[in-house]
Amino acid sequence: MSPRRIIIDTDPGQDDAVAILVALASPELEVLGLTAVAGNVPLALTARNARIVCELAGRPDIPVFAGCDRPLARALVTAEHVHGRTGLDGIALPEPGVALAEGHAVDFLVATLLREPAGTVTLVAIGPLTNIAAAFRAAPAVIPRVREIVLMGGAYFEVGNITPAAEFNIYVDPEAAAEVFASGVPLTVMPLDVTHKALTSAAWLAALRGLGTRVGTAVASWCDFFERFDRAKYGGSGAPLHDPCTVAWLLRPELFRGRHVNVVIETEGTFTTGMTVADWWRVSGRPANAHFMGGVDRDGYFALLTERLARLGAAPARPGPEDGLPPPPVGAGGGPRP
Ligand code: RIB
Ligand code: CA
Repeated sequence: MSPRRIIIDTDPGQDDAVAILVALASPELEVLGLTAVAGNVPLALTARNARIVCELAGRPDIPVFAGCDRPLARALVTAEHVHGRTGLDGIALPEPGVALAEGHAVDFLVATLLREPAGTVTLVAIGPLTNIAAAFRAAPAVIPRVREIVLMGGAYFEVGNITPAAEFNIYVDPEAAAEVFASGVPLTVMPLDVTHKALTSAAWLAALRGLGTRVGTAVASWCDFFERFDRAKYGGSGAPLHDPCTVAWLLRPELFRGRHVNVVIETEGTFTTGMTVADWWRVSGRPANAHFMGGVDRDGYFALLTERLARLGAAPARPGPEDGLPPPPVGAGGGPRP
């Protein structure tokens, strides 16, 4: 079976980084490129971080495009309080050795969707939806050509994480989200309702460190860093590994449970802007436009992540002992090429 072709639109962010690593470790997926968007941290950093992650995976060949540096109609809101100043705090990694791909991310999205056969490209959206909405505005002809958008965003029963009503990715650019949710593209949504059940554990982090690889050490260090925010806010232990839920859906959809419902985005609420208004009980009469997830097999999810991350045995030559990572195992190669 030929690999599923995807573009990852991302604002790394430690959890974005894990999603990217798992995708690059999975031969079932062909990553056509990464499109960076402003979100967790400003665009210059998300575009930097995306390249760092590809190099850590041993995949400097993956093109990374810089996209929109602010939302469609609002000032940018960032999340350094969660992800740190760089967006990848938790471990020091060297600056990327590869340059950004030529051209704007929105142009890459449009060109790829127009070039590839209709219905063959999936968008994995794990940041604010600015780039995708901008591509739909620039070239509406691409909208029916998208196979599916699998996105991390929103919340209903779990309510918000950046305001009482809104989840971060949607809150940063509610106008973009409203246009994407109204686009008619098949949507699979991973809201906080499910990602807050995908909590890391000390045992899992120990297993990652036990891999003895640069990837395992980096992921464990990133999780340790951003867990401190969730522990302080929600209490308990473990951090929600939000973004990899999207890639895990593509690899093992049976791990998840959800419902096809109508979801609209509040863009004018005094207190509710960015809220995903999910008609879970189907009372609005509006047609279902999203497969909205609510449950996950946590053990199966983390077993999948471990198994895939373990495939990324070595990093490229660039990172050295100064980056705090263990030396790559002798003779280890990069992840399987899709
Ligand atoms: O609310 C969680 C989402 O916001 C994740 O995508 C995280 O990376 C941040 O972008
Ligand atoms: Ca993200």
